[in-house]
Amino acid sequence: MAARWWFVLLVLVLAAAAAGAEKGEWDPVIRMPGEKEPAGSHSHSGEGFEGEDDDAVGTRWAVLVAGSSGYGNYRHQADICHAYQILRKGGIKEENIVVFMYDDVANSALNPRRGVIINHPEGEDVYAGVPKDYTGDQVTAKNLYAVLLGNKTAVTGGSRKVINSKPDDHIFIYYSDHGGPGVLGMPNLPYLYAGDFMKVLREKHASNSYAKMVIYIEACESGSIFEGLMPEDLNIYVTTASNAEESSWGTYCPGMKPTPPAEYITCLGDLYSVSWMEDSETHNLKEETIKEQYEVVKKRTSDSNSYGAGSHVMEYGDKTFKGEKLYLYQGFDPANANVTNKLLWSGQEAVVNQRDADILFLWKRYELLHEKSEEKQEVLREITGTVRHRKHLDSSIDFIGKLLFGIENGPSTLQAVRPSGQPLVDDWDCLKQMVRIFESHCGSLSQYGMKHMRAFANICNSGTPGTSMKQASISACGSYSSARWSPLVQGYSA
Ligand SMILES: *[C@@H]1O[C@H](CO)[C@@H](O)[C@H](O)[C@H]1NC(C)=O
Ligand SMILES: *[C@@H]1O[C@H](CO)[C@@H](O)[C@H](O)[C@H]1NC(C)=O
Repeated sequence: MAARWWFVLLVLVLAAAAAGAEKGEWDPVIRMPGEKEPAGSHSHSGEGFEGEDDDAVGTRWAVLVAGSSGYGNYRHQADICHAYQILRKGGIKEENIVVFMYDDVANSALNPRRGVIINHPEGEDVYAGVPKDYTGDQVTAKNLYAVLLGNKTAVTGGSRKVINSKPDDHIFIYYSDHGGPGVLGMPNLPYLYAGDFMKVLREKHASNSYAKMVIYIEACESGSIFEGLMPEDLNIYVTTASNAEESSWGTYCPGMKPTPPAEYITCLGDLYSVSWMEDSETHNLKEETIKEQYEVVKKRTSDSNSYGAGSHVMEYGDKTFKGEKLYLYQGFDPANANVTNKLLWSGQEAVVNQRDADILFLWKRYELLHEKSEEKQEVLREITGTVRHRKHLDSSIDFIGKLLFGIENGPSTLQAVRPSGQPLVDDWDCLKQMVRIFESHCGSLSQYGMKHMRAFANICNSGTPGTSMKQASISACGSYSSARWSPLVQGYSA
């Protein structure tokens, strides 16, 4: 379904471009205000748990990460804000929840309800009160690692709130964004690489500073962050929105059912994310177990087991404590004490894959603008430029594969998926090096290009030296004028 839809768009876009809309340099139209408010401006210390709970389970900590920026990625910040509200209603204290969010959506000129973010077509505001711990250029993989490790001196900027946890404490990590094989997006490059993330988790475990940890990850190919990598002896249980080789899905998108209010031109949520959150909001979390939530989320995210427009929710790490109750991680809202199995979800639901959601947003924007306006032409140039760059990435990586492995074997070598239980790549430094070589000659991978990480991983797994990769990249991209896509403008993904 997604593939056909993509093709139709491409034809439309190219036709429009041929009509003479494109000229000159690309001019960025969606500027990110990235305005920063003083840290702690929403600070109010929350009500805690009853003392007996605290004693029994230590302190509950959470780290919430929206890995993207831009109004077209509204849904990721909406997910994160929503999660914050659930945890706060559950009694987790603000001082124990660290939020990473670019914070350019709520007050974007494109937001029809300025200062408000919703995560469901009929949902209420989830933005109010969310602390601005790490916003704008502070949302980096490096800061995330420092926060997890509780290392204040390693943090750059932000509220300097870190996970200063003790041996009895419980930690919940929830991340939502784009991803690709072995990587999770960050609004500021470089991306988060699975190899680095594993090191941080091991280090956290070695510091004996938590009892148990639960990690929920929404991103394309999010299973690849843990597949063959996640140890079972770190007291960490993980679920991911998708397996190692498929997209995850945006939901509550314009023109789909259930549809956002008409004035929204962007998706409001992501399928796996709203599945766990709407489940948490409608259950007594002192009774529901981690395992029960996993089963519900898996079913809903799988498009009711059809996988036509859904993904395989996966689990990794230590599966021995799935019988624990969710309140240990997400808190307990007394208002939900007697609510069980009230289903917000009516079953039917259309979704759009993460990578097409960006184009859907631009296209909706284009449709709404006045026929003769300069802005409309600019949006068209942005769509055309984006689609061209995507095609350039796809074709140059394909070409590099053929140069390195031959016409016959190139594509299959790049796309080869290792058996489950094996990591994407053995040498993560090699993967980063290949990404940098490619970007130097072929331009930034961009959010979309993360999907090609497996190709770079396989180039490493085949033992190809960097010099050969450089030669192939020059041959494939020597004549490409990357302009705004240059890594000198965009930064390197690795
Ligand atoms: C914290 O980070 C700083 C700066 O990166 C580093 O020098 C230090 O060793 C770290 N502390 C711990 C306890 O890991
Ligand atoms: C839930 O049910 C119990 C027992 O019937 C009752 O005491 C309590 O007030 C109810 N809580 C809510 C929030 O409705």
